[in-house]
Amino acid sequence: MKRRIIILTDPGQDEAVAILTILGSPDDFEVLGIVATAGNIELEFTEKNARKILELAGRTDIPVHAGCSRPMHRPLVTAQHVHGPTGLDGPDLPEPTMPLQKQHGVDYLVETLMAAASGTITICSLSPLTNLGMALVKEPRIAGRIGEIVMMAGAYFEGGNITPTAEFNVYVDPEAADVVLRSGIRITMLPLDVTHQMRSTKERLQRWRSLGNRCAVAAAEMMAFSEPFDLKKYGWDGAPLHGPCVPAYMLKPALFRGRDINVTIETGSELTMGMTVADYWRITDRPRNVFYVRDGDPEGYYDLLAERLARLP
Ligand code: BDR
Repeated sequence: MKRRIIILTDPGQDEAVAILTILGSPDDFEVLGIVATAGNIELEFTEKNARKILELAGRTDIPVHAGCSRPMHRPLVTAQHVHGPTGLDGPDLPEPTMPLQKQHGVDYLVETLMAAASGTITICSLSPLTNLGMALVKEPRIAGRIGEIVMMAGAYFEGGNITPTAEFNVYVDPEAADVVLRSGIRITMLPLDVTHQMRSTKERLQRWRSLGNRCAVAAAEMMAFSEPFDLKKYGWDGAPLHGPCVPAYMLKPALFRGRDINVTIETGSELTMGMTVADYWRITDRPRNVFYVRDGDPEGYYDLLAERLARLP
């Protein structure tokens, strides 16, 4: 059965590949809308980048809403140093002509979820969780309408990527992540522990390029732009490809391995701000609020992405 999804995102090259993977899977996903978030870059870029990606894939029927321009409590931290001045540097994509929706992203989430039957919508989060956190504060009853949240967020065994202990999406808005993790909604978390296994080696990107369709070629060009930062940082043969773990997990859960645990967000200490304190060994009796994905199969992952990218224009 097709899953009805709303995408929360701050594209970003890896988010773009995630969105393209979703759009290349029309038998699996019905995309109700996209809510752009401030994160990798400021909101004025992320909402525009979301529209650029939809136009690239010929899917201007999907509405894009702009959400909050900054996190709940803290000044915005971006990852422009990785993603470039527009957040989506790499391929030369034209300025979008499809309109941005007038309705604020938080109001869109509340209205759409309240109109849905209980548990029928999945939230795919590729970004900081500001807009979902705000929507849950504004209308807590939306929690019952969401079947599951599948999010790229967090890190535990691998340590952090923006501070020694915090993963970027959680660090940008720890308070929003805290609201979401305490909401009682079923959550699957794809942290750095698994995304660091999914490395976009030269051979894997070459495979996308040789597919020859414009979306796959653009995806390869995006990764070629954002890769060098991570290659230098980690010294690996390919950069981690984070965002597409969300659709890949939903399409083929057998590629991944994890367990139900408690995850609590650090919101007090500046030293460890935004850390996802994962009780992987079940040391405490805190409620198991997250299915925490620890491992994945990179070969199967890249096969799946190539297969879905190939279906696009
Ligand atoms: C996350 O941080 C961002 O910079 C990436 O796009 C990804 O969403 C990984 O920590």
